[in-house]
Amino acid sequence: MQPSRCSQVLPLLAMLLVSTLVSAQASQPPTLRIDVHQVKGKVSPMLYGLMTEEINYSYDGGLYAELVRNRAFQDNRRGQPFHWVLYESGNSDAAMVIDPSMGPSAALPQSLALTIRNATASEPAGISNEGFWGIPVRPNTVYQGSFYAKAADPAIGPITVSLINDDTAKVLATTTVPTLTSDWKQYPFTLHSGTGTPSANNRLVLTAGKAGKLWFSLVSLFPPTYHDRANGNRIDIMEMLAAMHPAFLRFPGGNYLEGDQINERFQWDKTIGPLVDRPTHRSPWNYPSSDGLGLLEFLEWCEDLKMEPVLGVYAGYSLRQVFVQPGKDLEPYIAEALDEIEYVTGNTDTKWGAERAKDGHPTPFKLTYVEIGNEDNHDRSGTYDGRFAQFYKAIKAKYPDLQLIATTLVKSVTPDVIDDHYYHSASQFFDDVAHYDKADRQGPKIFVGEWATREGSPTPNFNAALGDAAWMTGMERNSDIIIMSCYAPLFVNVNPGGMQWESDLIGYDSLTSYGSPSYYAQVMFSNHVGDQILDATLDGTPLRFFYSVTRDSRDGKLYLKMVNATASPRTLTIRLEGVSQVSKNGKLISMSAKTTESTNTILDPKKIVPKESTIGNAAAQFSHTLPPYSIQVMELEAH
Ligand code: AHR
Repeated sequence: MQPSRCSQVLPLLAMLLVSTLVSAQASQPPTLRIDVHQVKGKVSPMLYGLMTEEINYSYDGGLYAELVRNRAFQDNRRGQPFHWVLYESGNSDAAMVIDPSMGPSAALPQSLALTIRNATASEPAGISNEGFWGIPVRPNTVYQGSFYAKAADPAIGPITVSLINDDTAKVLATTTVPTLTSDWKQYPFTLHSGTGTPSANNRLVLTAGKAGKLWFSLVSLFPPTYHDRANGNRIDIMEMLAAMHPAFLRFPGGNYLEGDQINERFQWDKTIGPLVDRPTHRSPWNYPSSDGLGLLEFLEWCEDLKMEPVLGVYAGYSLRQVFVQPGKDLEPYIAEALDEIEYVTGNTDTKWGAERAKDGHPTPFKLTYVEIGNEDNHDRSGTYDGRFAQFYKAIKAKYPDLQLIATTLVKSVTPDVIDDHYYHSASQFFDDVAHYDKADRQGPKIFVGEWATREGSPTPNFNAALGDAAWMTGMERNSDIIIMSCYAPLFVNVNPGGMQWESDLIGYDSLTSYGSPSYYAQVMFSNHVGDQILDATLDGTPLRFFYSVTRDSRDGKLYLKMVNATASPRTLTIRLEGVSQVSKNGKLISMSAKTTESTNTILDPKKIVPKESTIGNAAAQFSHTLPPYSIQVMELEAH
C-alpha cells in the first residue's frame, strides 16, 4: 500500500522542528551553574607548592647565588679545571694544574696549583673564572667573596682580586688580599662595583705580582642575596617564587635524590656545615653539584618563602637499576633517613638537632610530610613494597605524626599519601581533566608531585599553559583528595648546554629571569583559591572548555577558573544559584595569546602576562565571553 501524502509530510515536518530546536539550543550559550551553598569538599590548604632538584643548572648557575663555577675544582679533565683559565699579562708566565694531594680539608682533598715563573706588579699572573655563562656585574653593588689558599713562600706577596669585563678589559671592581701564609687559610674579600650598566660578560681574576707557587681552593663570590643570607639565593628568582605563594617545597628530587648509583644519591649529611667540609657530588643530570645549596639551605629557602618542607629521603634505589634489598641491607639507609628527620625537626638536645644549631639554626623546622624515594615504579627489582614497608614502620615508630608518601602503589602497608606524576601534551591533559573526579575518597590522599605540559623549549608555550590550566581545574575540583601538587621541573638556565629537560617553568641566564605562560597560569591559580570546592555544572560538553569554582568561607569570595582552549571566543551564561546579593563589579584576571605557540623568552620576557580588569555586569545570572586561547580567573562577591 502506498503511504498517504500526509503520512509522508508529517515525519519531515517533525524532523524540521527537531532540527530547528536543536540549532536554536546550540546557538544558546551554555550555562555554568554554580550552587554557591553546595560545598563539595574542602580545598587543601597545601594544594599549590614547588618541586625542585639540581637539573638544568637549577641551583649552581641558577637559584643558588654563587657566581664562581667549579669553585672547588671538582670538575677537571687531564689535570686542568673546567671554567678556569690562566691569566698572563704582558711578559708574565705561569702554569696551572690540579694537585690531587693538596687540599684545604678532608672533604676537598685537591686544589689548583699555580706556578708563577715570572710576574711583576704591573704585569701580574694568575687564574680567572668565567662563571656560569659569565659573571653578572651590576652598578654600585657589593660582592662578598673568599678563597682558600696557601703559598709555598709567603713572600709571593698580595693577591689581587678583580672583576674584569671580557669585551672591554675594563676592571669593574678590584681589591687586594695583603698576605698569604704557607698554611691553608680562608681569605675573605669584598668587591664594590662602580657606575655603569649591568653586564654578564665578565670574569673573576686572581693574580699575584711575583714569581712563586700557590694553591687555591673554594674560590667563591656572591652578589647581594634574598633576605641577605650568607651563602644565599638569587633575589630575582626568589621574588618570582614568592609571587606564586607556594605552600610547600618538595626536595631534593626527583632523580637528584636517587643518583645514578647509590654513592651518587643525595647524601644529606655531606651537604651541611661549612662549605669546605662538603665534598660535592655528581648529579644524575651529568654535571657536578657544589652542594652549596644543601639540606639546611633547602630548609632556609622554605623559611624565607613560608613554605613547609616535603622531604624526600633516599629509599634504596638508584637510577641504573641499583637497589638495596629490604631487611638488614636497608637498615643503614633507614638510619640515614631517621637522622635526617632529626636534623630537620629535632630539639637541640638531640644529636642532629644540636648539629643543626651548630650550623646556625637552633629552631627546629615544621615537617609533616616525608616521601620515601622517588618514582620507584621504575625499579624493576620489585623491592619497593618491602623497602617502603620497612621505612614506614621505622619512621612511624619514632615519628607517629609524620605523613608518609609512597612513590607508587604498595600492598604491605597503606601509605598516607601516594605521589602521582604526569608529563603530558596539552591534548592529553584536556582529555584527562576528569582523572580524579571519581577517585576513591577512602584510600590514601594524592600528591601530584610532578606534573607539566611538555610543549615548548626551554620554557613552555601558550598551548602548554592551556594544558596546565585545564589540568589545574581538575586538581582544584578534586583538592579534597589531592592535598598537594607541584610542577616540574621548576627552573632552566637558558644558555647553550644549560638544559637537560625541556619545558621548565622559569628560565634565566646569569643576569635576568622570566616566567613562562605556564608560570603565570600558576600564579593566577594559586593566588585565587578559597577553602571550599563548590558544585558547578556546565550544560552540554563544550569542546575544550574547562572550569573549577572555589569559595573562601572567610570572606565569601567566589573564584571561577575558566580555560578556553579553542581558537574561537566562548560565551557563557554564568548562573549563581542560592545567592541573594551579588556585587556587580568583579575582578577579572585574563591571560590570552594569539597563537598556541606564542611564548615568553629571555629576550621577550613579558610577551604573555595576565592582565587585570573589572567586570561591571556580575549578577545572579550574567553573560561572559572568554577570548580565544584564554585562561581566566574571575573573583566575585556573592552572598
Ligand atoms: O622532572 C624531571 C624528572 O622527571 C625527575 O627528576 C624525575 O622524578 C622524573 O622522571
